Amino acid sequence: MLEIRNKFPIFKNNPTLVYLDSAATTHKPRSVIKAEQDFYTHYNANVHRGVYSIAVKASTAYENVREKIAAFIGAESKNETVFTSGTTAGINLVAQSFLLPRLTEGDEVIISAMEHHANLIPWQQVCLQKKAVLRVIPFDESGVLDLSAYENFLNEKTKFVAVTHVSNTLGTINPIEKIIASAHKKNIPVLIDVAQSIASHEINVQILNADFLVFSGHKLFGPTGVGILFGKAKHLENMSPYQFGGDMIRDVSFDRTIFAPPPQRFEPGTQNIAGIIGLGAAIDFVEKIGRKNIYAHTHQLLQIATEKLQNTKGVRIIGSAPKKSAIISFIIGDIHPHDVASILAQRNICIRAGHHCTQPIMDFFDLPGTVRASFSIYNDETDIEKLMEGIEEVKKIMRYV
Ligand code: ALA
Repeated sequence: MLEIRNKFPIFKNNPTLVYLDSAATTHKPRSVIKAEQDFYTHYNANVHRGVYSIAVKASTAYENVREKIAAFIGAESKNETVFTSGTTAGINLVAQSFLLPRLTEGDEVIISAMEHHANLIPWQQVCLQKKAVLRVIPFDESGVLDLSAYENFLNEKTKFVAVTHVSNTLGTINPIEKIIASAHKKNIPVLIDVAQSIASHEINVQILNADFLVFSGHKLFGPTGVGILFGKAKHLENMSPYQFGGDMIRDVSFDRTIFAPPPQRFEPGTQNIAGIIGLGAAIDFVEKIGRKNIYAHTHQLLQIATEKLQNTKGVRIIGSAPKKSAIISFIIGDIHPHDVASILAQRNICIRAGHHCTQPIMDFFDLPGTVRASFSIYNDETDIEKLMEGIEEVKKIMRYV
């Protein structure tokens, strides 16, 4: 463990850091930082344009990462992976380029009640624009989706399903295999948001049979500002881009444009080349440790933290699904989550407090927000102990008895 933690310079530079906010973003190992730095210091050039040696090197490195990602998620071809700026951009691309032109008044789109706003608003806005209906799969008090409600929603008017694999607030792991299979029985395409699961779950798009899948690099030990949209070739080939610019065309005149085939068609302008190269290094890092090992380690921490929090007076855990990823939301009595966060911050304990971009979840539990702790490969039991000490301090300062 110490060996892995030492690979992250942030901990060397902040020796007292108790970082329990990996659901917001993960830290970056030295190899990722070095890969970005190497690009800028040794072969910085734009891709797909120059014929000089550093441009060729940059273009090759860039496309090699695409291949690496395709293999990492089990895509059939590297052309099914589109570089984006993150999960949000990937979802917006599918909403605008795939769904919008296919949606008509009275059609239905299904999401779940535990979506991050990024997997809610793009669909909601498209539905409003086309007078379509957004149907929302409810969840119960423990944070488990009501699959029978979902099955009942699926009908000939349903045009799309978009669901998260892991809830960023409740930690629930949703049965995406079943969700996809049920939709496919009625030929309905499905997008899965794996932002919270990509680092610790062995996602294989072919086994899942996902139509679209999105994630961000920065939750996978990679840089911010880079993400991936996977789309089945048959979908991407039949989608028009919704953002236009250079490096995405085959031929342009003043009257019309013939777009390049996917994925280039969806990558206008200069991409985050350094970030993409950094993401390649992040995937190497994850592959070396193994997603199974990351899951096992973080799951053990989740179990320890859950038990300790359950046995702490005044603490109520929000989200107790039987299958959870390493995310734990809770409240302490009626102490405002932002007060908890501020007091913990004084001890250099980093957690997130608030609605976590999931206001409908807060409405369901009738809460202004929660405190959220999340774990990654560089955490250990000491971090949990410090969190528990911090919670006692919060109770003392806030005079919680
Ligand atoms: N989506 C990230 C989170 O849940 C930012 O914190």
